[in-house]
Amino acid sequence: MRTTLPDCPEISGTALDALAAVTLARCEALRECTEHAGQITRTFLSDAMEACHGCVRGWMEGVGMTVSVDRAGNLRGYYAASDESGIDVPRLIIGSHLDSVPNGGRYDGVLGVMIGIALVEALSGTRCTFGIEVIGFSDEEGVRYGLPFIGSRALVGKLLPTHLARMDADGVAMFAALDAYASAHPKVISAQFHSATRGYLEFHIEQGPILEHAGLALGVVETVAGQSRATITFRGRSGHAGTTPMFLRRDALTAAAEWLVGVEAAAGTMPGLVATTGRISCETGAANVIPGMVCCSLDVRHSSDETRHAAVEGFLAMARSIASRRQIELEHTVEHDQPAINLNSKLIAIADQAVSQAGIPPRHMTSGAGHDAMVLAGQIPTAMIFLRSPGGLSHHPNETVLAEDVGSALRAGMNFLGLFQSYLEEPRESEPRSCTT
Ligand code: GLV
Ligand code: MN
Ligand code: MN
Repeated sequence: MRTTLPDCPEISGTALDALAAVTLARCEALRECTEHAGQITRTFLSDAMEACHGCVRGWMEGVGMTVSVDRAGNLRGYYAASDESGIDVPRLIIGSHLDSVPNGGRYDGVLGVMIGIALVEALSGTRCTFGIEVIGFSDEEGVRYGLPFIGSRALVGKLLPTHLARMDADGVAMFAALDAYASAHPKVISAQFHSATRGYLEFHIEQGPILEHAGLALGVVETVAGQSRATITFRGRSGHAGTTPMFLRRDALTAAAEWLVGVEAAAGTMPGLVATTGRISCETGAANVIPGMVCCSLDVRHSSDETRHAAVEGFLAMARSIASRRQIELEHTVEHDQPAINLNSKLIAIADQAVSQAGIPPRHMTSGAGHDAMVLAGQIPTAMIFLRSPGGLSHHPNETVLAEDVGSALRAGMNFLGLFQSYLEEPRESEPRSCTT
């Protein structure tokens, strides 16, 4: 774990293309904020995240934002509106997450936060009639507690007592980790969104191949697929690898293997369904011991909740049937059931126009990946703009993005700000008004 802050490069620039380069340089600089040297691993409330906050806070303050951390470990920078004298000055949140998967890429989440800062920088002191809050969410990937969206759930009041009681791998309960975080940050603010928030905008790499295939730099998200996560435990009987004949074994690993292959085959028959086991543990874990217990994660996604729920039920029934035939005991827990969500039609229309004004035909897309946007969308009108992912690659150290696409995203973002201002003042057919000084 890092305990010291890495050097934060001083980066400046005004033109949008220069700002795109600055944005990419900031993503690059944040590679240094990692729990393991040589890879990017940055989890909820870690020292690496603290180092990351040190850099991002400096960049936010450098463009005139007032910066705080909230009780859920979200980093929040506020760029005031032209007139802050009213009690309910409207605001737009622009954000994404600052955590990563183990050995993740440079842009998943981080890019959306850096684009938010760059858009404020591009305003160069100009104020809009609404305030802009840039949020770097503390946990979207769910690595530390096996529960995604901790930061955004907290923001919308959906971090429940059952979530707070979850333990990490070191036996630290989430509520204890959050209490320790609050004690270490005496100026911590409440983890709630401001009641005058009128919209949430998230930029994110697509993490898939569709935009690249279509030859488009940007896409407008219409729906985010729902997701289920579960843990399946196969309990067999461990025994001697040399003395136990094959027909007398109750091998938990071969049972799990049969199930994994069955899930892969079944998921492949349902259009749009994806099912993944990304984590597996096997006990005893010795070459000469028949595996007695295997735990598998299961992640299932589809844009229809009905289809997803039916698929999960089918996979569990398959596990039960394999286990019973092999005299294996089976347990399962469904840990996460996030419904699919349609984003806000008015903000989608604004995003369409913003992208189109940036010279890119707006293409609507469904996101297979989960995003903070899907949690916020339940309470705040939400839009999302995807940037093309070269090679469709993400959750991988070679994940990348094109500088020219970041430039296009900044153009679309500036258009969005102007259009959003018009929308707040009663949207009309006319051209959007620009921000006032
Ligand atoms: C987040 O990256 C997810 O979709 O798992
Ligand atoms: Mn991710
Ligand atoms: Mn992400």
